[in-house]
Amino acid sequence: MLQLIQYPHPTLRFPSKPLSRVDEALREIIDQMFEIMYEHRGVGLAANQVNLPLRLFIANPTGEKESGQELVFLNPVIQKATGTIEAEEGCLSLPGLHGLVKRNKAVQVNAYSMDGKEINLKVEGFLARIIQHEVDHLDGVLFIDRLFDQGPKVAEEIARFETRFAKQREEGQIADDQKLAEQRQDWLDKYCK
Ligand code: NI
Repeated sequence: MLQLIQYPHPTLRFPSKPLSRVDEALREIIDQMFEIMYEHRGVGLAANQVNLPLRLFIANPTGEKESGQELVFLNPVIQKATGTIEAEEGCLSLPGLHGLVKRNKAVQVNAYSMDGKEINLKVEGFLARIIQHEVDHLDGVLFIDRLFDQGPKVAEEIARFETRFAKQREEGQIADDQKLAEQRQDWLDKYCK
């Protein structure tokens, strides 16, 4: 059963590795990721947000199960990015926190679909922002890293996440770094060899 992880869980800082295979179990993982994304009212979710070190993310700009289009990007690469635009962002791994983030206005993304087809998309607007946010996740980058001026309120919120994480670890709800690294390696052995 997959679970959404929150900042500062170490897997959020782990640069995800490209997939070399796809199987039925991965399809089920992606179905579960969509469930988790909708449940938390998100519009995108990267695999490392559910503790998987794999280079894939999902998105649905409507954020609603019954509308829009469910997009799956395997091994995404942003090939071209143009223009600049600032807008407010949040993240399911930092619930409740929002801030203005500068992104490119339009991106060209190359990826693969679950059935092995190459995806070449030129997008702008909200979906372009989602794609940049999620590719950042896969590189171990969070939107808080891109806040121009965090300000005391954001710093306070971030400190609160850190305190809570430390407490969860003390209570044994989250494995130690070595155990997490072993878990990640198991996934890499399975999908990235
Ligand atoms: Ni996020």
